[in-house]
Amino acid sequence: MTNILCIGAGYVGGSTMPVIASHCPEHRVVVVDINEERIAAWQSDQLPIYEPGLDEIVRQTRGKNLFFSTDVNRHIAEADIIFVSVNTPTKTFGQGAGRAADLQYWEKTARQILENSTSSKIVVEKSTLPVRTAEAMERILNSNSKDLHFDVLSNPEFLAEGTAVRDMQNPNRVLIGGRETESGQRAIQALVEIYAQWVPRDRIITTNLWSSELSKLVANAFLAQRISSINAISAICEKTEADINEVANAVGRDKRIGSHFLRASVGFGGSCFKKDILNLVYLCEHYGLPEVARYWEQVVKMNEYQEARFVSNMVAAMFNTIAGKRIAIFGAAFKANTNDTRESPALEVCRGLLEERADIVITDPHAMENARMDLGELANLVTFEPDPYSAANRAHAIAILTEWSQYTQLDYERIYSSMVKPAFIFDGRNLLDHKKLYEIGFNVHPIGKPPLTRLVTPEFKHA
Ligand code: UDX
Ligand code: UDX
Repeated sequence: MTNILCIGAGYVGGSTMPVIASHCPEHRVVVVDINEERIAAWQSDQLPIYEPGLDEIVRQTRGKNLFFSTDVNRHIAEADIIFVSVNTPTKTFGQGAGRAADLQYWEKTARQILENSTSSKIVVEKSTLPVRTAEAMERILNSNSKDLHFDVLSNPEFLAEGTAVRDMQNPNRVLIGGRETESGQRAIQALVEIYAQWVPRDRIITTNLWSSELSKLVANAFLAQRISSINAISAICEKTEADINEVANAVGRDKRIGSHFLRASVGFGGSCFKKDILNLVYLCEHYGLPEVARYWEQVVKMNEYQEARFVSNMVAAMFNTIAGKRIAIFGAAFKANTNDTRESPALEVCRGLLEERADIVITDPHAMENARMDLGELANLVTFEPDPYSAANRAHAIAILTEWSQYTQLDYERIYSSMVKPAFIFDGRNLLDHKKLYEIGFNVHPIGKPPLTRLVTPEFKHA
C-alpha cells in the first residue's frame, strides 16, 4: 500500500484524488486543506465543487480509501507520495505584480512538508508553476539535517472544469517530469505505476522536469490563443457580413488546423488561461525575451478587447444608453457545467454594464453564490434571480454569457411577451436559434454574425 497525500482540496485536488482512489483501491488517498469549511463540505453530501460524476465517485470511495482532513502535519508524516495542489494565484504585489505567480503558499507548503517528515518522500507539483520552480523546491526540501531525500516531480493537470472527472478517467495524456538521476527516475516510475492502473502506458509521457513545467503553460497558452484568434476574426465578421461559424467550420476542416477551440465567444475565462499566459509572459521577460513576451501578451489583450467590445455593442444597439434599463444576464459561470466564476467573462460584462448604470439581474443554475462573492461590493447593485423567466420579466435585454444547455430549452415566446419592447438578445455564446428568436420579435445580436434587427416591433406593425 502507498500512502498518497494531496495538499489543497480545491478544484484540482478535489477532482483528481477521488479518481485516483477509485482506480487504486490498494492505496490510501488523503486530501488535506487548511480551510476547515472546505474539508467539512468534502465530508458532507454537498461537495464544494460541482463536477458531473464526482459525487458518485466520492460516495463510493470516501471512508474506504479516500479521506478528507485538516490535519495537514499528521498526514504529511504518514505519506509516501505528496501531491501539492495549493493555489498559485497571480502576484498582486511587489516584483512581477499582475503577472508572476505568487509562490508563497507553495513555498510554505514545502517547508511544512520538510518540518513534518520523518521519511524520504516523492513530492509532486500538481499546481501550475513557473518553469524551474521544482529547483527551488528541491533546494528547500533537500537542505535538511534529517538525512531525508525528496524527489520532486512535475505532473501538471490538463483537466477542464465541467469534464474534470471524464478527463481524469480517460486522459489524452499524463505528463510526468522528473530528474534524470537514478532516484529521479525511480520516482517517475512510482508515479507511472499509479496512473498505469487505468491509463494505457503509451499515454503516459515522461520528460525532464523543465519540459513538464513549461508544457503546462504552453498547452494553456495555445488553447487560449486559438480562442483569441477566432474572436479576433469574429470582429471582422461583424463588419463584413461573413458568419464566424461558417468561417470556423471552413478553416477547422483542415486537419492541420482542427476544429476544437474555435468557438467564438464573449471571451475565455477560468482560473487558468489568463494566469498561465501572464506567467509565461513574465518568464519571457525574466529571460530577456521581450518579443516573445509581447506575442503571448496579445492573447490576453485580445480577450479583454472581446469582452469590452461585447459591452460596447450592447450599448450601441440599445440606442446608446442603458442607464436604468433592466438587463437579464443568463449565465455567470465562466463556462457551462461548472459553478466556477473565476475570471468569468460574464462578470466582466456585468462590471461594464454596471459602469453604464444598467439595472442588472443575474441568473445561473449553479454559479450564483460564487458570482455574488466574486463581484464583491458590486453585488449590492445586482439582483440575483434563480428563475430565468423572472429574470427576463420587464427586461429590455437578455445577454447569454454561459452556454448552459438549459437556456436552449426555454419558452422564448413567453419570455418575449414579458419584456420591454423593443426586446434584445445578445448571444455571447452563439447558443440559441437566432432565426427563430428573430421571428418571435427579438432583435438578435450574435457574436461574429450580422445582427438580426427590426425597425418595427411585430405586434406594433398594424397599430
Ligand atoms: C489551484 C490553481 O488555481 C491552479 O493554477 C493550480 O494549478 C492548482 O491550484 P484550484 O485547485 O482550482 O487550482 O485552486 P483552489 O480551488 O484555490 O484550491 C487550492 C486549495 O489549497 C484551497 O482550498 C486552499 O485552502 C488550499 N491551501 C492553500 C492549503 O491547503 N494550504 C495552503 O497553504 C494554501
Ligand atoms: C482549461 C484547459 O482546457 C485545461 O486543459 C487546463 O487544465 C485548465 O484550463 P478550463 O479553464 O476548465 O480548462 O476550461 P476550457 O474548457 O478550456 O474553457 C476555458 C474558457 O474558454 C471558457 O470560458 C470557455 O467558455 C472558453 N472557450 C472555450 C471559448 O470561448 N471557445 C472555445 O472554443 C473553447
